[in-house]
Amino acid sequence: MDGTGSGENGHKGPRHVAIIMDGNGRWAQMRRRPRLFGHQAGARRVREIVEACPDLGVRYLTIFAFSTENWKRTQAEVTGLMYLFRRYITREMQAFVKEGVCVRFIGDRLRLDPKLQALMDEAETLTRDCTKVNLTIALNYGARDEVARAIRDLAADVKAGRLEPDAVDETTLTRYLDTQVLPDPDLVIRTSGEARVSNFLLWQSAYAEYEFIDTLWPDFSREIFAEVVARYATRDRRFGAVKA
Ligand code: FPP
Repeated sequence: MDGTGSGENGHKGPRHVAIIMDGNGRWAQMRRRPRLFGHQAGARRVREIVEACPDLGVRYLTIFAFSTENWKRTQAEVTGLMYLFRRYITREMQAFVKEGVCVRFIGDRLRLDPKLQALMDEAETLTRDCTKVNLTIALNYGARDEVARAIRDLAADVKAGRLEPDAVDETTLTRYLDTQVLPDPDLVIRTSGEARVSNFLLWQSAYAEYEFIDTLWPDFSREIFAEVVARYATRDRRFGAVKA
């Protein structure tokens, strides 16, 4: 929505944190366990990190759970992950309401199993009025896919006469993205030592700060999260301008 990021109520922490939760497979491998064991441990961490948000002043948390490229993994891993997402949403839904967590999903949900889609819709409806934390789960999400879908919808509106081509600017395109109701991320964290962005929130992260940390996602604790958030407060964000 707005590109100016943090600063709500004068606090210097990030208002919106986005996380690429990487390293589940290696974490499991180190324990000689199947990759899915790592994903299960990773899912447990999600709850801890969501719970930590209010104390850290983080109002928006967006997590990358499954990318448009993740379909290339083995059938067994994809099926296991889809089962995990269904179980996770089913189990957590009431807790989200109790804890004031508003859940949203971004990504192309039409390719997902109808039962999973129904659960996603249900979770969004049930938590719609929650205001403590905004949790966005990216499921079958790819930034390029998101932009392509946005442009397709925008082009349809132009064709139907609802939008003038000359009126299209950055704000217009932003309104067609899956993230239309979210502020831009202030901080993007990637765990597991890989320093790449893997098609995550490319448009929205134009001015985000990045943190690439070595910890594998299943070991990413509330304490490490607090450290990374505290480090962000020391950064000097200029959004392309120079300081007065
Ligand atoms: C990347 O680690 C992780 C994923 C592709 C899946 C992310 C899923 C979770 C953290 C668990 C469930 C999430 C929710 C919201 C319930 P990787 O498998 O690529 O790890 P590797 O690079 O070590 O192989």
